[in-house]
Amino acid sequence: MKIGVFDSGAGGLSVVKSLLAHRYFDEIIYYGDTARVPYGPKDKNTIIRYALEALEFFNNFDIDLLITACNTVSAYALPDMNAQSRYPVLGVIDPGVMALENRHLDKDDSILIIATRATVNSGQYQNALKKLGYTHVTALQTGLLVPMVEEGIFEGEILTSTFKYYFHNIPTPKAIILGCTHFPLIASALQNYFDGKPILIHSGEAIVEYLHTRYHLTEQEQETELKIFASDNVAGLRAIADKWL
Ligand code: DGL
Repeated sequence: MKIGVFDSGAGGLSVVKSLLAHRYFDEIIYYGDTARVPYGPKDKNTIIRYALEALEFFNNFDIDLLITACNTVSAYALPDMNAQSRYPVLGVIDPGVMALENRHLDKDDSILIIATRATVNSGQYQNALKKLGYTHVTALQTGLLVPMVEEGIFEGEILTSTFKYYFHNIPTPKAIILGCTHFPLIASALQNYFDGKPILIHSGEAIVEYLHTRYHLTEQEQETELKIFASDNVAGLRAIADKWL
């Protein structure tokens, strides 16, 4: 299978990293819309328009499946994307919710969702969790963490101060959904901040679990070939890919 992975920028490489580790696919075509990142502070209609424009890019390739690694796109654009594409388009929100459900927490355990403004405002994670019966769900917009990760800040004082800014009155949760492509990169800093206690749900690992459960995919012998494309600053994306992957 040849698949596409779409993200607003470089963050989706965190999902690619998990997909590469599991070798489910022959080839991954990655497209990051680096010219227009971030999507997180934008309105629904803009996010949908950008997502449909990304489909035009993928028309250049004969892909069997498209994964939108971007939580913000997953929150708003999946119905429109699926209506306009020849292949299925999967997001990362349902897989994230499924991954949490597979941890068999109590329904009154506290769940913290951290994500962009658009993802939090869409209510997608919150509604899915409430439908499953979770009673203590908090969703926080933590957009400042996105440019910090883009800057390569994965630990240290600035990050800890930003955590303090966002989480100063949040008691240590039982689980945190990393509802943004960038956040797996700061997972260990976040774990340390909360004394290693919360279970972290990572979109990349969640999609791997989802593909295995729903599509019965299994690991292949040969490595997955990866091709990376960007709408701007290809060299910058390449440098991040070299570092992250
Ligand atoms: N890829 C986005 C997400 O996962 C984060 C970056 C952005 O705001 O575009 O929500």
